[in-house]
Amino acid sequence: MDTINYGMLSQTMTEIRKIDQIHPDPVIIDRAASVIKNGGTVVFPTETVYGLGADATTDSSVMKIYKAKGRPPDNPLIVHFSSLEMMRKYVHVTPDIERFASNVWPGPVTFILEATANLSIVARASLPTAGSRIPANPVALALIDRAGVPISAPSANISTRPSIVSSAEAIVELDGKVDMILDAGMTFFGMESTVLRQIEGGYEILRPGAVGVEDLEPILGKIFVSAAARAAETVDKPITPGMKYRHYSPGKTLYRIEDRGAFISYVAENNTADMGIICSDEVASSAGLQCISLGTEKDLYEIAKNLFPAFRKLDSGPYKSGIIHGFPESGIGLAIMNRIRKASVPYQ
Ligand code: TXA
Ligand code: MG
Repeated sequence: MDTINYGMLSQTMTEIRKIDQIHPDPVIIDRAASVIKNGGTVVFPTETVYGLGADATTDSSVMKIYKAKGRPPDNPLIVHFSSLEMMRKYVHVTPDIERFASNVWPGPVTFILEATANLSIVARASLPTAGSRIPANPVALALIDRAGVPISAPSANISTRPSIVSSAEAIVELDGKVDMILDAGMTFFGMESTVLRQIEGGYEILRPGAVGVEDLEPILGKIFVSAAARAAETVDKPITPGMKYRHYSPGKTLYRIEDRGAFISYVAENNTADMGIICSDEVASSAGLQCISLGTEKDLYEIAKNLFPAFRKLDSGPYKSGIIHGFPESGIGLAIMNRIRKASVPYQ
């Protein structure tokens, strides 16, 4: 790819192409697929968040992802496939997964599966396993299919920053760092996939995500949720490398008061002039607040979708710090609270 070196700084020419998310133009897909096949990086929409993708079978291509994101090399990437048939060539698809596949895929569920030698060891951070999923987004599926190889893609944000849910954010954060950005507007969920691994007696959540435990249990059986997965405690020995890193965070300090009664009294009694208050419509109206709105709690999917953009508004707004309240940990609420806890510090 065209790389211009300015001494220590390297800048990549980024090709930005608008594309329809539901009916992607095959000419643009062909172009993006050729960037992948030639070892380049492409930012593309999935149904969860934007991914920063490269050919999952080639170490040198995958290394470019870590470099563009500034991601620690011991944190493995999710591999995206366009079909179960393709997946079977690169990971060991257990009989269990074969049975569930049509219920969970294409969709925002990632399973940790044993990898074969065909998958880049760099993408797996030297682990014997690979986080694997088939995304439910026509652009993503067409891109993988045309490239003819699985695509490794973490969330497209720079490491530690909130995930990217719109092409506008992708362009601000990644122009000059990747070879191509597919500009397809907003993603559907705005929240990453649920990451699961099989353990004795069922499945364990490594990272809560767009699909809640309540929706997975009827399909997969017992799902175990640890305090670490809820981000409710600090992790000394992470079961997934992603657990030990700071994540999803705005640049400014974000405080949290999970209990909403305590949150409302705090903002009523203290001078919060310099604080960006991030809250739901219900909390805003019961406390008579002006805030960075997360939307209505009647629909936790709406709260989830507005969360990362709210963190970015905190950074771009005239605030010194921010404060946010808690949400019920049911359905997608488990993922919302995991992201809030990882992005903030408790107010005390
Ligand atoms: O929705 C999503 O999952 C998005 C879109 C682009 O697909 N991707 C995403 O990737 O969020 P990333 O890299 O930001 O998060 C992947 C998570 C990390 O917590 C990582 O540690 C974990 O999955 N992970 C990946 N491979 C793993 C493995 N082999 N074993 C344990 N954890 C793994
Ligand atoms: Mg991420």
